[in-house]
Amino acid sequence: MSNIIDGKAVSAQVKERIRLETEKLKEQGIEIGLAVVIVGDDPASKVYVRNKKLACEAVGFTSYEYALPAETTEEELLDLVKKLNNDDKVNGILVQLPVPKHINDKVVIDNILPEKDVDAFHPVNVGKIMIGDYNFLPCTPAGVMELIESTGTDVAGKECVVIGRSNIVGKPQAMLLLHKNGTVTICHSKTKNLKEVCARADILVAAVGRAKMITSEYVKEGAVVIDVGMNRDENGKLCGDVDFEDCKDKAGFITPVPGGVGPMTIAMLMQNTLTAAKAQNGLL
Ligand code: GUN
Repeated sequence: MSNIIDGKAVSAQVKERIRLETEKLKEQGIEIGLAVVIVGDDPASKVYVRNKKLACEAVGFTSYEYALPAETTEEELLDLVKKLNNDDKVNGILVQLPVPKHINDKVVIDNILPEKDVDAFHPVNVGKIMIGDYNFLPCTPAGVMELIESTGTDVAGKECVVIGRSNIVGKPQAMLLLHKNGTVTICHSKTKNLKEVCARADILVAAVGRAKMITSEYVKEGAVVIDVGMNRDENGKLCGDVDFEDCKDKAGFITPVPGGVGPMTIAMLMQNTLTAAKAQNGLL
């Protein structure tokens, strides 16, 4: 029987630490603000944005929500981003992705001030992560690192396998594991012998986007298995990339879906917003 990593409990600890620090900053006259922009009415995005707003309230940040209609032009969205860049009350800016197809998300991200880019999606921040000199951690990979740390596992020298090479998760995840001196392999759709490669991993991070693809055959006995997936199974129930029931007895530690990585992503967004506010007030 493996240990189930409780993402809700770990994220609650992180948020409590942030809440206390936010309270202290308030005593010094520093209020923290996060602007969240959503364009259109994608139901999943609406849920994410609502959860981000609730997290802001829980830690004592002010959230500024901008819900724009799907017909918003790229120019209108860029005007809003520029206004938020210049607003001192706004320490962090997040434009929820995906944006409607007629808007180029790269252009939007490029126009967010790197100092306020709490997603760490701006090329400047991506570059800083690459060279290991960064303030903002990409939220999901950073949350994964916290969960690994919560198991007491030292990444140094471990075989780490990341399945998925997206800019949001796979690539930065590999980089954060490398910064902790893991021996890192990134797998993707063209990887040969995926099962064998994964079964070598002491730490396995699945970010594939395919429901329950990772069965126990992919898992080494005692491995730390982190599931970034957020899918629906054949019955419409939320599930990860890992077949939890099949893997839970073989893994040493494993995250559930929901209740694993998901809550951590939002906690790390709060962490980045706090970091942004401190940096903008000369406190870093
Ligand atoms: N859409 C799905 N995940 C994310 C995220 O982490 N940040 C933003 N801005 N949009 C998303």
